[in-house]
Amino acid sequence: MAQPPEAPPAAPHPSGHETVVVLDFGSQTSQLIVRRVREAGVYCELLPWDAPDAQVAALAPRAFILSGGPASVYETDAPTLPPFVLDAGVPVLGICYGMQLLAHDLGGQVAPSTHREYGPAAVDQTTVGRESPLLAELPDPFPVWMSHGDRIEAPPPGFAVLGTSANAPFAAMGRAANAGAGVPIYGIQFHPEVVHTPQGARLLANFLFRVAGLRGDWSPASFVEEAVTGVRDTVGQERVLCGLSGGVDSAVVAALLHRAIGDQLTCIFVDTGLLREGEADQVMETFGRHMQVDLRIVEAAGRFMDRLAGVSDPEEKRKRIGAEFIRVFEEAARGIGPVAFLAQGTLYPDVIESSTPERKAAVRIKTHHNVGGLPADMQFRLIEPLRYLFKDEARAVGSALGLPDEIVWRQPFPGPGLAVRVLGPVTAERLVTLRRADAIMREELRAAGLERAIWQSFAVLTNVQSVGVMGDFRTYAHAVAIRAVTSVDGMTADWARIPYDVLGRISNRIVNEVPGVNRVVYDITSKPPATIEWE
Ligand code: XMP
Repeated sequence: MAQPPEAPPAAPHPSGHETVVVLDFGSQTSQLIVRRVREAGVYCELLPWDAPDAQVAALAPRAFILSGGPASVYETDAPTLPPFVLDAGVPVLGICYGMQLLAHDLGGQVAPSTHREYGPAAVDQTTVGRESPLLAELPDPFPVWMSHGDRIEAPPPGFAVLGTSANAPFAAMGRAANAGAGVPIYGIQFHPEVVHTPQGARLLANFLFRVAGLRGDWSPASFVEEAVTGVRDTVGQERVLCGLSGGVDSAVVAALLHRAIGDQLTCIFVDTGLLREGEADQVMETFGRHMQVDLRIVEAAGRFMDRLAGVSDPEEKRKRIGAEFIRVFEEAARGIGPVAFLAQGTLYPDVIESSTPERKAAVRIKTHHNVGGLPADMQFRLIEPLRYLFKDEARAVGSALGLPDEIVWRQPFPGPGLAVRVLGPVTAERLVTLRRADAIMREELRAAGLERAIWQSFAVLTNVQSVGVMGDFRTYAHAVAIRAVTSVDGMTADWARIPYDVLGRISNRIVNEVPGVNRVVYDITSKPPATIEWE
């Protein structure tokens, strides 16, 4: 059955659990709030601040958290507080801009601060703060991370000051449930979601459990049984095709589907010609050994290279690769019988970063091909069981399903493969160069025992050529960039502090063993402002 790509994919939703909604006012750390709430054992979703009432109501939120954001409440087109937040009759916590909005709407005063406060600060608790459930068990003073221009000048009527900092006389404010009107509402000027606020997790847990009275009934593993039931209900007796990429996400999807629908599932591994050295054999061997699924390989290198000929633009590469995958799957499906569903390992960060309706106001960073790059005339309905999970949660689900560490802890590898690591045009020759450099890097990191500590490590063939000298000759050859990052979920990342001698060995081997490369540079940018991949 054909379906336009805008139609929502079938994804078992973790509803039925206590749910907290974070409303996104555009902060860089909005997703981190969601992560912290889930880590506390409470299911949480991020919705845009102007999400339709019905979408929010469908989640039956037990509390709202309002994120920070770059705007000022007194700007004319600044995001506003949607009426459902105060009408819902559930506890609210405003963070930074979220706090300023609450103050503004409830009759307090917000003004630009003479001092922009950015970085570490200490919050002194007031007498009321020390009695407050929000700050229970926090030291006094407690260290926080601030990042704000505006600040509260006067809290709204009925609100007490709970904490003060040098530049924010109202660093924390609150209205307890028993202070007259209705439900508890709190606001904090600092960011509890970042690691630089060491007691941030404690404070959020206080809000969830002491203020909102939640129990904490969610974990990634608890998701497994619901997802299995959800998949069975959605799929019925139909057949499902699952594109196995070799990465953890699609492996977890395959294991979940196999548990749910057994031999109604066929897995396809596509050799796109954009894989790393030895990868196709390794994936077929590992998955063949560990997963009792119907797994088929499709050799498709030639057709992917044809589609990429002469294409340099990263988004265009992604689009063409995404479309070609679907064409390959459609052809494979014809050899299997009627196939209604295509399963994919889409994760929540893919959904957020690809600006699908869940985050319509956000800027599009990249079209991850399994989210946005699908052709409109696709013959499948999509099923994406991990659509609401973060990467580390997907790994936990994989372990709960009994997948071995060797699959669960594989480094992520992007769907468009080496095409987004060969900058500019993708040619067979450039792929050979990159593949060799990449293999050397991974060999050396493995030999140094660093693989597991690193989220992702890879080489990039840049489109820079530079002058070098080899023996008595001048060279004018390619620069290879090597990248290794640490991360918890791929949303933010830091460059890995690889020992210099390991970096030295990698560089030495690449320039000596890979023809056409005379320079190696190590990428020391974090995400943000860079992304993990170069394209
Ligand atoms: P970025 O480069 O956006 O990547 O920081 C975050 C994580 O996602 C992977 N990635 C992709 N995965 N299709 C995928 O399946 C894609 O188009 C894609 N682009 C990036 C990337 O490797 C990293 O783990």
